[in-house]
Amino acid sequence: MKLPNLDEARKRTNNKVDYIYLDEHYDQNTFKGQKYFLRTYGCQMNVHDGEEIAARLESLGFTPTDKLEDADIVILNTCAIRENAHDKLYGFLGRCKHAKKDNKDLIIGICGCMAQEESVVKELMEKHPYVDIVFGTHNIHELQDLILKRSNKQDINVYSCEGEVYENISYKRDSNIKAWVNIQYGCDKFCTYCIVPYTRGKQRSRKSSEIIKEVENLVKEGYKEVTLLGQNVNAYGKDLEGELNFAGLLKEVSKTNIPRIRFVTSHPWDFTDEMIETIATCPNIMPYIHLPLQSGSSRILKLMGRRYTKEEYLKLFNKIKETIPNCAVTTDIIVGFPNETEEDFNETLDVVNTCKYDSAFTFIFSPRKGTPAAKMSDEVTMATKEERLHKLNELVNSYSLQANQKYVGQTVPVLIEGISEKDPNKVFGYTDTMKLVNISNAQDKIGKIIDVTITDAKSFSLDGEIK
Ligand code: 5AD
Ligand code: SF4
Repeated sequence: MKLPNLDEARKRTNNKVDYIYLDEHYDQNTFKGQKYFLRTYGCQMNVHDGEEIAARLESLGFTPTDKLEDADIVILNTCAIRENAHDKLYGFLGRCKHAKKDNKDLIIGICGCMAQEESVVKELMEKHPYVDIVFGTHNIHELQDLILKRSNKQDINVYSCEGEVYENISYKRDSNIKAWVNIQYGCDKFCTYCIVPYTRGKQRSRKSSEIIKEVENLVKEGYKEVTLLGQNVNAYGKDLEGELNFAGLLKEVSKTNIPRIRFVTSHPWDFTDEMIETIATCPNIMPYIHLPLQSGSSRILKLMGRRYTKEEYLKLFNKIKETIPNCAVTTDIIVGFPNETEEDFNETLDVVNTCKYDSAFTFIFSPRKGTPAAKMSDEVTMATKEERLHKLNELVNSYSLQANQKYVGQTVPVLIEGISEKDPNKVFGYTDTMKLVNISNAQDKIGKIIDVTITDAKSFSLDGEIK
């Protein structure tokens, strides 16, 4: 089965990146008084897409609700990175089907990475006809039109090849203190386990002039922090002729004088000395790097198509730590890649023992249909994989605690973001190294960067006070 609109997308893009400047006007009275329920799963890219979806829904007059039963339209923004995403989608759809029994006019929409999977679209068409609209990651800009023009049959509008780069997008940002800024879409790396290049398409960088304009506007609006977003930010600009590289982009963003700049995610293969120097020398680029390892075994790294060896990773890690001494480094690790041996796994533990990461996201390999790794034979049992994950987590958490304990007694700048969810008498914020800090009696400091003395450390957070 081919996803609809492939030919149309090809015609529109001519198989190359084009820039479209949106100039949209919608009538906010169209759905006045009606409510939307938006649920987003997955990575920061999806979260930021959710901010675009919310703005689009509000441009038609919908207002938000967090109660499914009050909603007139439900949008589920899905993630496809691991298998359990399917359970989440179909579990949620069960609830939507039920809600539609009470409100037959309820509009149900599915988007995000799973909407880019042919098997999912097929299943939605065959088994879930009560879903009204399905759109992909390349055509979020069509959401209003999809809602306005929807017919009484299922409207599926998913491009199976990447679309253009759109500018002048409006976002309903979750925070007025820190903002996500896309710098590129898609990924060309095709790591053998990863579905992202299929669901988000090939790499398309935004023009640096557009990125800078967006950051300058955020500065004017009083934002204190931007996080530059991409699947592989270090490869920024490689797909555009005459464009800055990532280090060049960082330098330009630094000149906007936004107090804090972060970026995710970095691929070790594209990380250059110039980037390290830039992070070390620009005071508003935060000393925090998320540097996915995936595996410590060079044999497994080769099977994963990661393009670096254990030794090359460690060389890069050491260079980062030597040049940016206070830099925090976090990572992603997959255990149980097909036929990972005990020796392979021990290599991963060895890298963790060397790098002593500030924190790590750890996953059991999940075969994703259509990726090369899903076709690899695998003799390792799930019980062994779970055991390895448990062992890895214990090690990773012990280093997180160690890294946090070093902060006790230090006074460090913290950007205060809001009231703590767990304790209304406390506020929370992040250090420049991305450590979560809970602070007493500082409600008047929200939105400010202030010096906080760290009084206690746990594995996942710090406690602090203002002296
Ligand atoms: N199985 C398990 N983990 C995966 N990741 C990506 N694809 C898979 C998969 N098929 C992890 C990687 C990546 C993070 C975002 O998710 O570690 O860096
Ligand atoms: Fe997936 Fe690899 Fe691209 Fe990251 S770099 S999004 S893991 S293909």
